[in-house]
This record gives sequence, structure tokens and C-alpha cells, in this order.
Amino acid sequence: MMKTITVANQKGGVGKTTTAVTLAHGLVLQGKRVLLVDLDPQGQCATLLGLKPEPGAFNLLVSESPFSQVTRLTDRENLLVILGDRKTSTAQTVLTVQRTPISFLHTRLVIPAQKDGIDYIVIDTSPSVGELQEQALWAADGVLVPCAVDYLATDGVYNIAQTLKRIHEEFKWQGRVLGILPTFYDTVTRESKATLQDLQKRFSGSMLAPIHRATILRECAVEGKTIFEMAQESRAAKQYSELVQYVLKWG
Ligand SMILES: Nc1ncnc2c1ncn2[C@@H]1O[C@H](COP(=O)(O)OP(=O)(O)OP(=O)(O)O)[C@@H](O)[C@H]1O
Ligand SMILES: [Mg+2]
Repeated sequence: MMKTITVANQKGGVGKTTTAVTLAHGLVLQGKRVLLVDLDPQGQCATLLGLKPEPGAFNLLVSESPFSQVTRLTDRENLLVILGDRKTSTAQTVLTVQRTPISFLHTRLVIPAQKDGIDYIVIDTSPSVGELQEQALWAADGVLVPCAVDYLATDGVYNIAQTLKRIHEEFKWQGRVLGILPTFYDTVTRESKATLQDLQKRFSGSMLAPIHRATILRECAVEGKTIFEMAQESRAAKQYSELVQYVLKWG
């Protein structure tokens, strides 16, 4: 059965897009058919894949273009994308003004994808709170929360946990937290270790193995290649492969 995974944390620069793109490609390399959806006006999923940002998300949500028209194939076989660009922020405003129901994205995206033989949808979100982010959470079977293990990491995770609790209570959200993924982990700094311990204490049941701080991930972004294409033997590739295996076991 198809699963939808939303990658979210309202804190900026914690590795959401890196995680969404890497997870999507990792699942493809394991033989799955995956749709990556960029709901961030920064449009960085495109950049990370070496593509140009385009108003796919806007067309899906505002122009109400059919799913088949906004979804496009990439050179990576079985990786489909709905890309984003600055127009996504207009979509965000329109959804708010029109007071669309929280299920709107689910209806426009998840239902048609089910008919298209997709195994996983991976949704990347922007570092903010709003209608589109809530719809992306509501559409998810599992929410993946990357968090950079700096001194404010726990706040970000706590905020998203509160939002999920609210949409569960108010709108009967049926999904669950897929996991909290510590990122930018640095074994040498005391701060990194202390934050990781703090997270483990508070969210013990949901913690995943950390992704270390790795310069190669920045280089991937510049090259428009995923870590599996750039440096398959790197520690970062191995750590992200573990995440892929976890997701495959989860559903
Ligand atoms: N584990 C890591 N180690 C080192 N650099 C990383 C790591 N993960 C991501 N990066 C780099 O950090 C920057 C921010 O990552 P990314 O864009 O994935 O974060 P984000 O949460 O999506 O940011 P935003 O909130 O702005 O959307 C990028 O330049 C990325 O290449
Ligand atoms: Mg991002």
C-alpha cells in the first residue's frame, strides 16, 4: 500500500530538503516508485537533483491542473517529482484565503498518486507554519522530523509534536511520527552529545540513528547529485541507507 511521508520541522536549515531528496532517491534505488513533492517556495528539491525549479506545486494546488500534468519523470528511473518555486508562497496565501479544508492536499495529491502505482510520496516542507504545512502533515501516514542537534533542537521537535497532537485532536489525523532524525551530529562537540541525550530522554520512542555533520552533503547540493551518486561509500550515504531501510520496514 502506498505511504506518504512528510518531512517537517519549522526550524530552518536542519536538513529537511537533504533528507527528503536523499530518502526519495534511496527508496528508488531499492526498487520503489517514488514521488517527491516540493512544497517549499525555495524550490530546493529541484536544485538538489540538478533540475530547475518550476511551479508544479502551485499548478497542482491553485491552477488545479490534473495530477498527471504537474508530475514529471526525471532521469532517475522511477523517481517522479512535483517541483516548487516562488509561486508556492502564492499558493500558500490562496489556500489560507479560500479556507480550503485540511484534506485539500490529500485529495489533490495522495488520491491520484494511489491510482498511479506509486509506492511512496515524500513531501518536503518549508521552515514555517501555515495552511500548506498543516495540509502536508495531515496528508502524511508518517512524519519525519529532522533536527540539527544544536541547543534549540528540542524546541523545534516539541513544536511539531504539539502541532501533530492538535491536528489529531481537531481533524482526526490518522498518521504517526515516523521518527525524529538528528542531523549535523558532531561527535566532538559537547553540545551535540548533550542535545542528542536530551532528545533521547524526551522522545525516546521516536528517535532514529543520527546523521553526522558531513561536508560531502553540501557538495552534493552544489553538484545537483544525491549522496548515493556522489559518494556511495561515505558515512553519510551509509547513514541515509539505514534510514531507507527503516522506512522500508515501516511500510
Ligand atoms: N548532515 C549534514 N552535514 C552537513 N551539511 C548538511 C547536512 N545536512 C544538510 N546539510 C547542508 O546544510 C544546508 C541546509 O540543509 P537543507 O537545505 O537540507 O535544510 P532545510 O531544513 O531543508 O533548510 P530550509 O529550512 O531552509 O528548507 C544545505 O547546504 C545542506 O547541503
Ligand atoms: Mg528545505
